[in-house]
Amino acid sequence: MVFCFILGEAKKRVGERMAKIIGGSSSQNLARELSQTLGIECVPVTLERFADQELRVELLSDMHDEDIVLVQSTCNPANDHLMELLLLIDAARHAGGRRIIGVIPYFGYSRQDRPFYERGPISARLVATLLEAAGLDDIVTVDLHSQHVEEFFTIGVHTIDLSSFFAQSEELGPHMTIISPDIGGIPRAQKLADHIGADLAIITKGRHQPNACHTTGIRGQVQGKHCIIIDDIIDTGGTLASAASLLKAAGASHIKAIATHPVLSGSAIDVLEKSGIEHIVTTNTISRTLHPPLFRVLTIVPELKKALERLLAPS
Ligand code: R5P
Repeated sequence: MVFCFILGEAKKRVGERMAKIIGGSSSQNLARELSQTLGIECVPVTLERFADQELRVELLSDMHDEDIVLVQSTCNPANDHLMELLLLIDAARHAGGRRIIGVIPYFGYSRQDRPFYERGPISARLVATLLEAAGLDDIVTVDLHSQHVEEFFTIGVHTIDLSSFFAQSEELGPHMTIISPDIGGIPRAQKLADHIGADLAIITKGRHQPNACHTTGIRGQVQGKHCIIIDDIIDTGGTLASAASLLKAAGASHIKAIATHPVLSGSAIDVLEKSGIEHIVTTNTISRTLHPPLFRVLTIVPELKKALERLLAPS
């Protein structure tokens, strides 16, 4: 099967440097919008599969001595998207790219940032090592699961923090209580609470196995409160649904949620529809068609644009 991505023809200098954008198969829309908003050419790519499912990529444009921006979320199917990104980095390097910037809005494997089992890998560290070995010079990513992941890189990691972005959202106000759905999410929730001058409450959560969680309690006052749960990822929906059930039992008056990355595996949407959560604000780090009134999708293109303008500016 042959995929051919031809994404635009505009070509422009960013400062004094030439730059081009390549969109991987998971992030075609983001690449197209970035190409338009930054006014730089999006390079056509051919992506084919051999009979045994190996990938073959080919860049259909010269990029000698240019800055190359590769856009690819390593979302489901994570392994295919990761391998495609590694091949695109190598291809851009061999095509003469001067500096290769990986825009990875959703960074797959970021949750596996520690050895969770006695003889388990540190998967996020391995992914970081692979991306660097392939030839990336810089990474731009959004709301990384934890700061540990940044520390696995020796190249520049530019993580876009979305707390001030979400703070401007029409759903939020200082009379609300921001909820961290687990201990690991406290820094993210605290930042948002500080931005809007709201109170913070924390849910404690345990996991016995991947994709199965249970909540154990709430620290903070939620009775009669308008609660906004904030998380980085919605995968199975279990974390949000179980937090919502605890908040409802504790007498919260309204329950809404903000989550950056709509992974939404399996029956997650169904789980969330039945969870009692009134409204979920998410973003387009992962390309999904999501409908109101349950979902509102905010675009992170302006945030990516700002980060790329800083990186592409002549030094
Ligand atoms: C976990 O530590 C993450 O921050 C999210 O809470 C988690 O990935 C959400 O997954 P799920 O929707 O499957 O509960």
